[in-house]
Amino acid sequence: MIRASIVGASGYSGGELMRLLSAHPEVEIVAVTADQQRGRRVDESFPSLRAFSDLTMEAPDWEALARACDVVFLALPHGLSQEGAPRLLDAGVRVIDIAADFRLRDPALHQRWYGEHKSPALLAQSVYGLPELHADAIATARLVACPGCYPTASILAVVPALEWREPGAPIIVDAKSGVSGAGRGAGANTHFGEVNENVRPYNVGRHRHTAEMLQAFAAAGANEPVFFSPHLVPMTRGILATCYVRTAGAVEQAAAEETYRRRYEAWPFVRVLTDKLPETKATQGSNFCDIAVLAAPDQRLVVAIAALDNLVKGASGQAIQCMNLMFDLPQEEGLWAPPLYP
Ligand SMILES: NC(=O)c1ccc[n+]([C@@H]2O[C@H](COP(=O)([O-])OP(=O)(O)OC[C@H]3O[C@@H](n4cnc5c(N)ncnc54)[C@H](OP(=O)(O)O)[C@@H]3O)[C@@H](O)[C@H]2O)c1
Repeated sequence: MIRASIVGASGYSGGELMRLLSAHPEVEIVAVTADQQRGRRVDESFPSLRAFSDLTMEAPDWEALARACDVVFLALPHGLSQEGAPRLLDAGVRVIDIAADFRLRDPALHQRWYGEHKSPALLAQSVYGLPELHADAIATARLVACPGCYPTASILAVVPALEWREPGAPIIVDAKSGVSGAGRGAGANTHFGEVNENVRPYNVGRHRHTAEMLQAFAAAGANEPVFFSPHLVPMTRGILATCYVRTAGAVEQAAAEETYRRRYEAWPFVRVLTDKLPETKATQGSNFCDIAVLAAPDQRLVVAIAALDNLVKGASGQAIQCMNLMFDLPQEEGLWAPPLYP
């Protein structure tokens, strides 16, 4: 059994790790941590987990975690993983970070988007945890940085279209997120009265996730600018990203569909739709990302639409998919279940 612990278990992505790992046949959860909620049982924090865990959440003790675990999942607010990860890695424990601390490989880029990094040397060692792009590197990684929820949807949607791109033309990502994307801490912006019956754009053209998209597209040879418009919509879970790629020539619908189908045919969690458009509800609670591509050859445009559950494929499910690869398990282990519907 893989001995795993969850740091930040009382948060939304930590709770989702608890839910999924407690049903994983190869994992034993040995420790869980929290900050304000330390001292509480997991099922006090998540009534949904009654009968699945009798663990109590403690304050993080990095030395004790290193002794007890093979792998530690970090589900902390940005900036805190930089403190714990080096100590775990020094002790030989594998680390899977769900925060943004190790996603940008270039320290200067990290500095620009997030401020100073406390362990910049680790940035070059970390592997971007998007299995459909980096499975081989994830399999041997000591430190995996899972992508953000918006970038997971956007990168999976855009990458197959990059071969047709018009050089220099901006790639446009227009995306909507459910409110759990903002974490469990209550704030005025996520209060029911603010979110209900409202659609709110925020950080348009300057959201931090733009940096991850730029990095991923550049790694695929595309240095075009990205314009990203995120929106908060009144739903609990889900990301829907509609991505526009200007093409150098006319791309026909059949060719576009065939390219996407072939690109993801070996990847069980990406479902390429040709008869319907993706919708968030069809992915809820699951590790699937549904993608459809629409070609508009007369307008020199390809539009790719992706839907996923921000807490699963956009965070904790993807982290477990990475863990499976790191421990030589089938990537679907503990994750192969149909979404909740309706
Ligand atoms: N939510 C998503 O859809 C999503 C998707 C992808 C990535 N992420 C990333 O995942 C990370 C966690 O997000 P989340 O939405 O799960 O956040 P969250 O619901 O706010 O949970 C944060 C967790 O961190 C703990 N924590 C806070 N401050 C701490 C400290 N000083 N020391 C130790 N533990 C501390 C909290 O404990 P207490 O509850 O006890 O205070 C809680 O367990 C973030 O970096 C986020 O950007 C989130």
